[in-house]
Amino acid sequence: MVRFVTIESSCMKSLSIDQKRYLEEWMEFLKIPSVSADPAFKQEVAKAAGWVKQALDHVGCTTTEIIPTPGHPIVYGEQLIDPKLPTVLVYGHYDVQPPDPLELWESPPFEPVIKSTSLHPEGAVFARGACDDKGQVFMHIKAFEVMKKEGLIGCNIKFMIEGEEEVGSDHLEEFVKNNKSKLACDVILISDTGMISKEQPSISTGLRGLSYMEVTVTGPNRDLHSGLYGGAVANPINVLCEMIAKLHDDQKRVCIPGFYDTVEELSKTEREEMAKAPFEISEFKSSIGINDVSGEAGYSNEERRTIRPTLDVNGIWGGYIGEGAKTVIPSKAHAKISMRLVPNQDWNEISTLFSTYFQSLAPAGVRVEVATHHGGYAYVTPTDNLAYKAAHQAYLDTFGVAPLPSRGGGSIPIVPMFENELGVKSILMGFGLDTDAIHSPNEHFGLFNFFKGIETIPKFYEHYLRLWKETN
Ligand code: BES
Ligand code: MN
Ligand code: MN
Repeated sequence: MVRFVTIESSCMKSLSIDQKRYLEEWMEFLKIPSVSADPAFKQEVAKAAGWVKQALDHVGCTTTEIIPTPGHPIVYGEQLIDPKLPTVLVYGHYDVQPPDPLELWESPPFEPVIKSTSLHPEGAVFARGACDDKGQVFMHIKAFEVMKKEGLIGCNIKFMIEGEEEVGSDHLEEFVKNNKSKLACDVILISDTGMISKEQPSISTGLRGLSYMEVTVTGPNRDLHSGLYGGAVANPINVLCEMIAKLHDDQKRVCIPGFYDTVEELSKTEREEMAKAPFEISEFKSSIGINDVSGEAGYSNEERRTIRPTLDVNGIWGGYIGEGAKTVIPSKAHAKISMRLVPNQDWNEISTLFSTYFQSLAPAGVRVEVATHHGGYAYVTPTDNLAYKAAHQAYLDTFGVAPLPSRGGGSIPIVPMFENELGVKSILMGFGLDTDAIHSPNEHFGLFNFFKGIETIPKFYEHYLRLWKETN
């Protein structure tokens, strides 16, 4: 168990007046519980959108607006200086994951506090959204403020900050399709991923795709007395567990026929290149409290969580889960199951393959329903373009270390969509760490990471403009 010490004076002393103000503003933002998944928080999500708009106004965007959607609003802002100069579109999200389970938070999720940890002796802000993605969005807003104050805005900048990323970006997709000229740009800049460590920056060169399913197994038409009926009817929970067990083989490969058919296999050289990134398996295990790792045979730990497709049960329920004991055979059992996908896997196709296979596993005596929630395609970005080179140079300037390209395991479905609809690549300059506990209790974001982000982002613009001018 990590022990936290609340810090006030020691690390705060070294911050400038502006930096202290950034921290205060950021913490105000984090106090708004913008949980997009829960309709009870709709007003709070709208409040967060308003907060982002005023923050963009405050730092001097010339036009800002809140664009309502049938779901949560999109915040748009821009500073256009010259149509002949390149345009950077900054994308991020102000919505956050639900904070559950609340009892595991050491301080309330929407009452941000600064605490120091062994990894962040200088302090980290603890709150839902601290890293994913309010903290990282706010770095861009403050980087803009710095550039504006110092007269360093050298290209056109557009901000599009959405409120539905954590629930699949459904309405943003529509907005992008209908507003291509408004969103026209040369590159999309996103900080919604992580880097290898505080000493070793990295640029995400890939994201996995996603296919999210929900299954229901129905047996008898009502919950039954397990003594009167037990042994004579199929128990939906027993059946669901048996079916789930058939989704992987003993090599931890996914058994769905056709699942691997289109999977992109990396070359030996590419895999060797990946293996060069610093990684300590013992640290990986101890950081999440496990005594061994587990995954597909034939692939390294890092390959398993980035370049290989996977299947995981995200939640399972049914029957009696209250206090004490109740002898019952439930009528229904449910599970939420997601698959992380890699380049060339079509998430719609994979969802269909899953449904067909899962249905085929159903024994007599139960009915199985399979529903698709949402999904998205994987994404890869080459390292030989201007924006990647600019990002590389920016990290080199501020960290003094060359960043490594690194494939990420998470998903941002809107990124491949941007490429399809706008024909533009995204550059993923994430400043988070795997240990930031995004989506988990006690999410946090290091002050080091936050301020390094604010320092590195202007460098990106500077190098991007310079490289762009050299080639145009
Ligand atoms: N920012 C994350 C994605 C991420 C995190 C990518 C770290 C790479 C490294 C994003 O907010 C997220 O959580 N995406 C969801 C998908 C979405 C459809 C709910 C995910 O990956 O589960
Ligand atoms: Mn995110
Ligand atoms: Mn997220």
